[in-house]
Amino acid sequence: MAGDENWVDVGATEELSKAPLKRITAMNRELAISVKDGKFGVVSNTCNHVGGPLGEGRLDGDYIVCPWHNWKFHRCTGLGEPGYEEDHVPAYPVKVEGGRVLVNVAAASKRGKKPHDPHPLSRNIARAPGPLRLAGISTSAMDEANPRFSGSDHLLNHAMKSCMAHGAESRLIRLSALKFRNCEGYYSKAARACTWPCSITQMDADDQMDQVYEALVHWADVIIVASPIRWGAASSLYFKMAERLNCVQNAVTINNKVLIRNKVAGFIIVGGQDNIQGVAGQMLGFFAELGFIFPQFPYIAHSRGWSHEDMEHNVAIVRDSKELAEGADMLTKRCLDLAAHLIARDEAPVSIERGGRKAHTLHT
Ligand code: FES
Repeated sequence: MAGDENWVDVGATEELSKAPLKRITAMNRELAISVKDGKFGVVSNTCNHVGGPLGEGRLDGDYIVCPWHNWKFHRCTGLGEPGYEEDHVPAYPVKVEGGRVLVNVAAASKRGKKPHDPHPLSRNIARAPGPLRLAGISTSAMDEANPRFSGSDHLLNHAMKSCMAHGAESRLIRLSALKFRNCEGYYSKAARACTWPCSITQMDADDQMDQVYEALVHWADVIIVASPIRWGAASSLYFKMAERLNCVQNAVTINNKVLIRNKVAGFIIVGGQDNIQGVAGQMLGFFAELGFIFPQFPYIAHSRGWSHEDMEHNVAIVRDSKELAEGADMLTKRCLDLAAHLIARDEAPVSIERGGRKAHTLHT
């Protein structure tokens, strides 16, 4: 019969009935085959969003849930879930004959993409004219309703105040005042599942990490990140933020797109105990991978060492130290001067073939 060659045998009914959803290949096409109540469905394996493998997802009733960001498509018709039917993936005719499952690979329905408004963060990155801009990032965890004195915040405040004296604008972001989700490991599913803007930010309008992204990627020329030392490391909020910034670095890895250009980072590190150099090393390494540039002497720090458990004295030293306050001011100036220089020259690359982890071939 004409067209019979298009019906491809993809396997035994019995075998394909063992898993409710599976990824298969037929005539070079990647397909997601599902079975429910004895009825097979076959759709394209490629999700409309950013190409997640639908056959590796799960079934929710008659809908396939994409394993990357949970978009849903009907397992037989390919239509998006109710309200999103315009978003549909190709669906293939399927039949069972003689205990075999056959798919017509030439008669798929068309893919359709419902237009989605781009997320505001995905706009083109272009520095708006105006004075230099510094974002201070406080990573000290505290009860915002009953604030306490924080040495790292204190020095950050000095840095912010000195901005004005240097003719720059400033914006303070206190991570402890933001509600934002932990990184949920989209990158661990697949490099391409970790998107810019962050997958969580795109899916959850209540997640406030967008304020950090907006400041770092679009608004600021300089960031100063202030952290206490907690058990020899930066604060837990610092790491919570850092994990969510993976998408900024990953834009370089998977799309060769440098989001951070001509921007400078400085650090303030304050602890009752030691390991300043270890904390600074982590911060410098991480922000270098994002694309930030550092001034000479990119951090100021204070600690009194392992034997000083009298934290109230440590706090008093930081609060009363004129030298540390001056140090914060001078760090700000070094950062702003370097930023002015970088902006004037505008030489930072917009893409980078062999930078950071991309020094060798990557398999994404
Ligand atoms: S939901 Fe499928 S790739 Fe994002």
